Amino acid sequence: MKLTKKGSEKIIWDSMRSNRVNFGYPKLTLYLIVFFVSATYLIYTLKLLNTSNLPCPEPDFLLPTRNSLQNLTIPPEKTEIHHIVFGIAASAKLWEKRKNYIKLWWKKEAQMRGIIWLDNPVKTLPDDTLPPLKISGNTSGFAYRNKQGHRSAIRISRIVSETVRLGMENVRWFVMGDDDTVFIVENLVRVLNKYDYNQFYYIGSSSESHLQNIFFSYGMAYGGGGFAISYGLAEALERMQDRCVGRYPGLYGSDDRIQACMAELGVPLTKEAGFHQYDVYGNLFGLLAAHPITPLVSLHHLDVVEPIFPEVTRVEALKRLMLPMKLDSAGLIQQSICYDSSKSWTVSVSWGFAIQVFRGILSPREVEMPSRTFLNWYRREDYKAYAFNTRPVARNPCQKPFVFYMTRVRLNSTTNMTVSQYARHPVPHPACKWNMVDPSNLDKVLVYKRPDPQLWDRSPRRNCCRVLDSKRKRLVVDVGLCGEGEISEVQ
Ligand SMILES: *[C@@H]1O[C@H](CO)[C@@H](O)[C@H](O)[C@H]1NC(C)=O
Ligand SMILES: *[C@@H]1O[C@H](CO)[C@@H](O)[C@H](O)[C@H]1NC(C)=O
Ligand SMILES: *[C@@H]1O[C@H](CO)[C@@H](O)[C@H](O)[C@H]1NC(C)=O
Ligand SMILES: *[C@@H]1O[C@H](CO)[C@@H](O)[C@H](O)[C@H]1NC(C)=O
Repeated sequence: MKLTKKGSEKIIWDSMRSNRVNFGYPKLTLYLIVFFVSATYLIYTLKLLNTSNLPCPEPDFLLPTRNSLQNLTIPPEKTEIHHIVFGIAASAKLWEKRKNYIKLWWKKEAQMRGIIWLDNPVKTLPDDTLPPLKISGNTSGFAYRNKQGHRSAIRISRIVSETVRLGMENVRWFVMGDDDTVFIVENLVRVLNKYDYNQFYYIGSSSESHLQNIFFSYGMAYGGGGFAISYGLAEALERMQDRCVGRYPGLYGSDDRIQACMAELGVPLTKEAGFHQYDVYGNLFGLLAAHPITPLVSLHHLDVVEPIFPEVTRVEALKRLMLPMKLDSAGLIQQSICYDSSKSWTVSVSWGFAIQVFRGILSPREVEMPSRTFLNWYRREDYKAYAFNTRPVARNPCQKPFVFYMTRVRLNSTTNMTVSQYARHPVPHPACKWNMVDPSNLDKVLVYKRPDPQLWDRSPRRNCCRVLDSKRKRLVVDVGLCGEGEISEVQ
């Protein structure tokens, strides 16, 4: 009853307004309308009086109720880790090896929720360091007609729907990943907090390899890099996914099937450059040393590339990256660029990962470009192979960077600063005839940095770094917010 009245009132008001603007109706019509409104109101009021045995209805169509007032004044609760449900695609065959990647980032005590979806049962004891395991539903009813791919793509694509159907409470985001995806979960939360989970969002990133994006789509979230689907969208997808998957038996993978359904739903990819598919071979160094100015959310294809720290296993290397992550996840592998003016060197910091020292002055626009220490997914190296700008490893032998990898990091609880230590990677350097101090005597770099959990609440900006002390064997660098007027230039 209330709704009807509100509706009719609105229509009358609108027609009166248009009347006023147009002056097109004769006066009689106006009088009739005024009479009609008054009569309706009178009848309505009488009806209310007659039914006085009913409690007086709250006029909530006119005044905000206590609840909605409260909701206006209290901002919505921020998205936290427990609002996310992970759906991890795994296979029984690779389980023993791949589960170690999941253990690196999964923390039950941090209230993480998620399911590992397997194709077949695995022999395993209950393990608190891993999410619970489930076997995916039978997909033999779906056709698969891609000659290069594998029909497990259908199963993996349906993980979203199968996870939604579990009906877990208080979920805002469903995040998909592979068994060889490592998430920096605090940064994932930071990124998702920018978006309204009630709306339709499909968030992830494309491939590093231009050709991959040509063959699949620049509008597809690559599954291995992980992608997030808002609650609203996941529900809509669940209702149509099986019909949709049935329409694309010729597609290759699980993520292109998801994208096909997103296209049917009309939802575009929201690109977040911190999700990393890493469709590359070789050494990730160039990419990790010059990360885009956005939080690091995920790493993938860790079995394919070399260990990210030299002379240790892949899992050990990633474990080492988790140490700075615990102290300052927002700043993990963020780049800063400064100059040792006393020696005319360029210093590039990738916080928690590595330092590069170059002879001479390289401009920030050059240093922020990843160097091609890797090959693309078709094992090509040339500059046209990637979906972003890259630079060759070293044009001039004198400019081969001296690389220092992080070995230790701790928090000084007196100063609240992190102190990270970087040791020289002992590789031979080509002879250089430049008349300049040789960095080859340096064996250690120390970096001071205050943890900055609010880094991504501000507009994106690279941190500034300053060379505090430059000895023969040791360089001391400070990293933090840029001061007033401070930029990356030779002092
Ligand atoms: C206001 O929030 C409460 C819980 O916080 C919810 O039950 C209620 O439906 C909300 N009201 C409106 C009008 O959104
Ligand atoms: C899967 O479903 C097909 C029919 O669609 C059935 O023939 C097959 O036995 C099922 N497999 C399992 C493991 O349940
Ligand atoms: C922490 O910093 C203070 C001040 O620089 C210094 O005196 C102290 O030795 C540091 N503590 C550790 C454990 O390094
Ligand atoms: C260090 O952090 C603690 C807790 O956040 C704070 O109480 C203390 O004042 C800080 N000390 C300095 C020197 O900033």
